[in-house]
Amino acid sequence: MAELTQLESKLAEVIGLAQAAQDTTRKVIKLVDDDEVAAILKRMRAESKETADRGLALAGNLDGKKTAVQKKARETKAEATEMMQTYLGDDADALDGLEFMIMAEAGELGHVEIVSKMNEQVRDKEIAKLAKWALDVQSRHFEQTRQAALKLAAQEDATGPE
Ligand SMILES: [Fe+2]
Repeated sequence: MAELTQLESKLAEVIGLAQAAQDTTRKVIKLVDDDEVAAILKRMRAESKETADRGLALAGNLDGKKTAVQKKARETKAEATEMMQTYLGDDADALDGLEFMIMAEAGELGHVEIVSKMNEQVRDKEIAKLAKWALDVQSRHFEQTRQAALKLAAQEDATGPE
């Protein structure tokens, strides 16, 4: 299998994290009662799919590296899913779900920033375009998950039992 460059490997990680994010949002949506928060999460899930799809389409144009990118993305997705399952056990509630998403979205944002920075050396136009779009999307996801968590936190009885 073709060896990936650092940049291609980071791109694969972005794809894998976006794939995992689809499963995470699906799980957290089920935990959430708040319609507004659920609607935000649904949009985030759709944008995660778009990120993964656009990333894979881009990888398809990298000479002979599509398979290696897919493999690396799958590995990353599996690792992220394992973390999610560890954090969100059977007793997880909506706020637990959003807490995990805050970490996951920060991770996604960080990875997109790394791809964008590494691409400054390579100046690949397609990667630059995807990274610019994904930076906007991920910045918003990170902000929205935090705001959603704070909305639910405000609804909790802070002095009530755990
Ligand atoms: Fe995201």
